Amino acid sequence: MNKINLISKYVKNKLAKDKTGHSMDHVERVVKMAKKILLSEPKANPQITIAAAYLHDVIDEKLVDNVTVESLRLKLYLTDCQFDENEVDAIFNIIDNMSFSKNIEFKNHLSLEGQIVQDADRLDAIGAIGIARAFYYGGHFGETIYSENQSPRTLLNKQQYRERSTVINHFYEKLLKIPSQMNTKAAIEIAAHRKTYMQNFLNEFKSEYDMQK
Ligand code: ADP
Ligand code: NI
Repeated sequence: MNKINLISKYVKNKLAKDKTGHSMDHVERVVKMAKKILLSEPKANPQITIAAAYLHDVIDEKLVDNVTVESLRLKLYLTDCQFDENEVDAIFNIIDNMSFSKNIEFKNHLSLEGQIVQDADRLDAIGAIGIARAFYYGGHFGETIYSENQSPRTLLNKQQYRERSTVINHFYEKLLKIPSQMNTKAAIEIAAHRKTYMQNFLNEFKSEYDMQK
């Protein structure tokens, strides 16, 4: 088995049971999109990019109980798979730093490979698939679809956010802002198309909603 196949097997094992939109189908789409972006980024290292695309969610605090333990386990596994120290560092530099919140602090520290994986991950949160994932996630955490009397909730913690938030509001708080945060040229173009699609969806949603009055 080659290195990438071994990594894919590891990820499948970790994320198989996820029901919040981070399961293997999300990972496979991120890998596919990363490969597509790689075609117009010849300076990027494909093996590091693809490995990090597969692994980008496996040590996420949202998904594992103990980030330190999972990180150690992954490091040992990568070493077993014959990744050398520099490669392991390059992969960890990406998966440690590319989450939405960390990106505010670490924006300039992401390697080109990390920027590609981040773009691929964010592209999966917008457009038609992004819409599907938002409702899937919202349903899982008991969010309502929409409320006309939505109050601003910048100061809510994650639990309160889930309890009081609506899925439609998530588009305005996060998803419509994603296209302006892309790193690579290829991703910027895809994101622009997906943003228009989401805006059309929201317009359509509102007009259907208003007709029920
Ligand atoms: P990431 O995979 O980048 O770490 P998240 O875990 O925040 O991102 O989001 C995973 C998916 O769930 C995304 O498609 C995102 O839009 C969606 N999502 C996250 N938070 C909410 C929310 N409060 N309401 C609806 N969808 C959400
Ligand atoms: Ni992801």
